[in-house]
Amino acid sequence: MKVKDKLFLSNKAWALEMQKNDPDYFKKLAKDQAPNYLWIGCSDSRVPANEIIGAQPGELFVHRNIANMVVHTDLNLLSVLEYAVNYLNVDHVILCGHTGCGGIKAALSQSNFDLLNKWLRNLKDIYYHHREEIHLIKDSEAKVNKLVEINVVEQVHNLIKTGVVQKAWKKGNNVTVHGWVYDMETGIIKSLLECDKNAEFDSIYRYDFGDELDSL
Ligand code: CO
Repeated sequence: MKVKDKLFLSNKAWALEMQKNDPDYFKKLAKDQAPNYLWIGCSDSRVPANEIIGAQPGELFVHRNIANMVVHTDLNLLSVLEYAVNYLNVDHVILCGHTGCGGIKAALSQSNFDLLNKWLRNLKDIYYHHREEIHLIKDSEAKVNKLVEINVVEQVHNLIKTGVVQKAWKKGNNVTVHGWVYDMETGIIKSLLECDKNAEFDSIYRYDFGDELDSL
């Protein structure tokens, strides 16, 4: 069976299954979306956002990339964030990393990944800033998982350093930013940190919106 045939057959079976319980299922879903969560996760095929938290279609707005990064020049991520926070008005932004992350492993190695080197460079810089803490760990798997955790904290901080999140807070939108790690060995998620509008961060990253917000 061709790949396409296999996938289309699975799709048809799924669509029929969903309609069995509710004949109007797709009609209702097609009308609009009002997800309460933005999920920023790793592209890893073993960490499917909806499945691991039992979310149904319509519940999660999702962005995934290698090693769940928030890079401040990434227009793709920033557009997703802007849309989710300011137009869909999600209450929660979830940044979720996972143990055994291939992106983190690659960044910790000296292997050349050509184009990918540029993406992984962001992780190498995080490693460099935390190298003393990471050097204390001898086991290579534990080392990877330490950087996984540090990366989640850094990316949550990157989220709150964006004008998108800060402006939303200033406007009275109480969106909360969560940092989670999914354990691939157990399937269980743990929370590392949570930031709301009272989050503290260095003033150099804080934007002064001046009178801009008066007209809103
Ligand atoms: Co990963």
